[in-house]
Amino acid sequence: MEPEPMTDVLVLGSGVAGLTAAIHAARRGLRTTILTKAALDASATAWAQGGVAAALEEDTDSPDLHLADTVTAGAHLCDVDAVRVLVTEGPDRIRELIGFGARFDHLGPALATTREGGHSVPRVIHAGGDATGAEIQRALAATARDLGIEVRERWRVTELLVEDGRAAGVAAHDAAGAPRQVRARHTVVATGGAGQCFAVTTNPTVSTGDGIAMALRAGVAVADVEFMQFHPTALHSPATPRVLLSEALRGEGAVLRDDDGVAFMADEHPLGDLAPRDVVARAITRRCVASGRDHMWLDATAIRGFADRFPTIHGLVRDSGLDPAHDFLPVAPAAHYLSGGIVTDLDGAANLPGLWACGEAACSGVHGANRLASNSLLDGLVFGSRIVEAIAAGTDGPRASGVMRGVAGWTDGPVEAPALAGSTRREDFQRVLTRDAGVLRDRERLERAGDTLAAMRAATLEDANLLAVGRALVAAALARCESRGTHTRLDFPDRDPVYDGRFVFGHGPAPRLVPLPAGALT
Ligand code: SIN
Repeated sequence: MEPEPMTDVLVLGSGVAGLTAAIHAARRGLRTTILTKAALDASATAWAQGGVAAALEEDTDSPDLHLADTVTAGAHLCDVDAVRVLVTEGPDRIRELIGFGARFDHLGPALATTREGGHSVPRVIHAGGDATGAEIQRALAATARDLGIEVRERWRVTELLVEDGRAAGVAAHDAAGAPRQVRARHTVVATGGAGQCFAVTTNPTVSTGDGIAMALRAGVAVADVEFMQFHPTALHSPATPRVLLSEALRGEGAVLRDDDGVAFMADEHPLGDLAPRDVVARAITRRCVASGRDHMWLDATAIRGFADRFPTIHGLVRDSGLDPAHDFLPVAPAAHYLSGGIVTDLDGAANLPGLWACGEAACSGVHGANRLASNSLLDGLVFGSRIVEAIAAGTDGPRASGVMRGVAGWTDGPVEAPALAGSTRREDFQRVLTRDAGVLRDRERLERAGDTLAAMRAATLEDANLLAVGRALVAAALARCESRGTHTRLDFPDRDPVYDGRFVFGHGPAPRLVPLPAGALT
């Protein structure tokens, strides 16, 4: 195998987080390479509809208010220092993104904003109505191309290279399927989430938890993976992935109704239909269970000019034979966003020198037990950029800051080998997780899922990655004997202060509960 020349910054993934890191690195004159398993323009980012949350309007909003909303939605498991970084640096990153050419929607001269679940004021900016992610992806990919960043498309990363106790790049298969090594001084994992663990998901087929699974195999600390967020309003249909019906619809007046047409969210939460996402997903699921139905309804008939404000959703819904001006839309929760991932400090450093993580692959602490709507694109912008600032400042290895405070110094080596050479189809374990580790969980179902997944062997590397993340998710969900955020245990319905901490993998075979450091919890 031909060794490759050393690059300074190797970025795995080409969503908002990876592209932001790569652009910042290239602008600082660092030799930068992006490895992506699809095309540069393909990522979960490009699918994001609703928008980006940021306190841009000083008269009505502030970083403190954004922080308070984020921590509340996160069910008080956020790292407050990390959230403070997010909300204070976010507005500058948005302005920078606009400088890169991203075009957001305006209302007169001002940026148009909307509300989504858990936000106390309208602070979600959007592009193309409901095509925010696509516009951000377009602007960042164009900037990366203009900067001449080396991009290797359709390369599949197989393992992290670890040499002398530090990350040294990755082993991969190139576009032709040949084994290769890409060596790097710094490796940035921005490979996104793992929604494909579930049969019912809004995530594209590329969201297979590759970076998180590689970290698990390398013994790098990974936390909070029990907190898979279920988006309450995926269009109920046989489509895989499911069509997302953005929370921005409820921000613009859509209402959830039961089979009798009764609007039920006002009885569930003071914010009604704009309650945090976990509350809404639970309310829908409980009603489905109680009524024996598999969906509830989203009534968007009050939204005037639906097709202009939400052109993407309008097209997708019409393709399903529905007219949002007249029809209630059938909805049910779908796996949407993994709030946990590779543990990082406030600069995005993992607990292996030379390894960094950002975006959905990371656990920076900004999302806690339930990510606030539209904070994810902001997360990618802020922490993608901070990684490069830290590298440029000569940082090499994690500081005891943010979530890393609990795990700095862990060095335990691999915990799981790739479970390849099997024949289990992806649909088989997707069904197990959807049935037994979904919105409403209990010990019996989780144990059944754990036993079933333990016996499964994947046939492909991506499926092995999904299986590794799925097993970790189930193990952490079993260990967390309480309900918090997106993790609802029917057998432990309340929050329990015993679990004011994170289940972290990377030190022994089982997840370990690491208490939150003093001051990290509000
Ligand atoms: C949505 O538009 O509802 C999804 C936005 C997000 O996941 O933050």
